Amino acid sequence: MTRIFAKGFADLEHEVAVESLPIAGAIPTWLEGALLRTAPAKFDLGRQTVNHWFDGLAMLHRFAFADGNVAYANRFIRSANYREQQRSGRLSRGEFASDPCHTLFGRVLSRFWAKPTDNCNVSINAFGQSLVALTETTLPVRFDPETLETLGHYDYGPRVGGQISIAHPHHDAARRCQFSYVVEFGRRSRYRLFRVADEDGTETVVADLPVDQPAYMHSFAMTERYLVLAEFPLVVSPLRLIFSGKPFIRNYRWDPQRGLRFQIVEKDSGRRIVTAVTEAVFAFHHVNAYEREDELVLDLVAYPDPAIIDHLYLSRLRTGEPFDAVGSLCRYVIPLGPTKSGVRKHQITTTAVELPRIDYGRTAGRAYRVVWGTGNHEPGNFLDSLVWIDVETGQCAVWAEPGCYPGEPVFVAAPGANDEGEGVLLSVVLDGQRDTSFLLVLDASRMAEIARAECPHVIPFGFHGNFFPTENGGRSLRNLHR
Ligand SMILES: [Fe+2]
Repeated sequence: MTRIFAKGFADLEHEVAVESLPIAGAIPTWLEGALLRTAPAKFDLGRQTVNHWFDGLAMLHRFAFADGNVAYANRFIRSANYREQQRSGRLSRGEFASDPCHTLFGRVLSRFWAKPTDNCNVSINAFGQSLVALTETTLPVRFDPETLETLGHYDYGPRVGGQISIAHPHHDAARRCQFSYVVEFGRRSRYRLFRVADEDGTETVVADLPVDQPAYMHSFAMTERYLVLAEFPLVVSPLRLIFSGKPFIRNYRWDPQRGLRFQIVEKDSGRRIVTAVTEAVFAFHHVNAYEREDELVLDLVAYPDPAIIDHLYLSRLRTGEPFDAVGSLCRYVIPLGPTKSGVRKHQITTTAVELPRIDYGRTAGRAYRVVWGTGNHEPGNFLDSLVWIDVETGQCAVWAEPGCYPGEPVFVAAPGANDEGEGVLLSVVLDGQRDTSFLLVLDASRMAEIARAECPHVIPFGFHGNFFPTENGGRSLRNLHR
């Protein structure tokens, strides 16, 4: 029997703008601003169906909060990818796990560095004063936060270069910048860490780290003084990327003998201070990291290997096959000083968690207690719950409802909050029994429902978004950073 979570992988074609969604409960009136999300929304392109959840055409979703009201709008990103697909009914650029159906010559042209994808379906953030949707190439797309109109590409400058980047930059409130990195493939490949100033978007290279076989990394970690690359041993030979003729991720191979390698770089000097190796795992998401005396504590959602990528092919998800690839919240403690002790690891809880979020404004890069995420309440089911976890005690709390599949919980701090986690969680939930989606507002510390706003359609499952508070009528980008 097909499980109802498969409904979250159906296409959504319609673009709407609704001034006021029906609400059950009461939206806090202090919640003023917009939750902006991006998500794959179209997988069947006419003459081609993409292979993987990560490959669907990007759509923006906007939930705007004012005076207890929730407005909603959705709009495809008018990327080059989107326009080309509209014309041809198929992909024109290589995606994560799908390629255009092309001749050999066409394949070479569609390689991501010759014609990279701008299908920004992974996350929303800000570089300088530009609000951007991101994917894992160096082609973010700028858009208008009110109309969702596509404004063009955000260009990484020539100093940054690279072909592959990430959709999870880190904002440093003290230094007033975003940190991110690119992978530059070449005769000598390298990871290039860089920063983008909030004020004017100026880019500065922080460090260049040579690498023979770059790893697939979806995120990285940040503490007050350091940036940390966790190189999972899912690695690629640059030549293979060019000549294999396979979709992007299928060129990477799992080599657990390499182990998991942490590279710790000082933000201000660009100096690499530690390289530490431990047992291999794979992960998409870091949770948080911080310094503690002469150690660095780093939490991530670990998998024993990259089989999770295979579980996310549409051929499996759309038939509702049992989903049994769940991540576990693990803590690594990495010595920073001159010590012979190695990296220590322990599992914080057996509760499954993915799409983790923290009270970012208060705890990013610092000691913290609380992580929220999507959970897996019923074995074999897809992500079917929201979880609250105390990372010190492992204590958990869960929100779940039969037939409901929540997306990433985005935390919004209450005004004047005194404690970590004082505020609300916003999550887009598929109600598979009622064939619709709703925006759930939870009390973030009690995991209790405050309100829900009913959407006019099923919103396909997505990945990430952020809440942007209203400033000067919603036009100002002054408070864009998390
Ligand atoms: Fe992600």
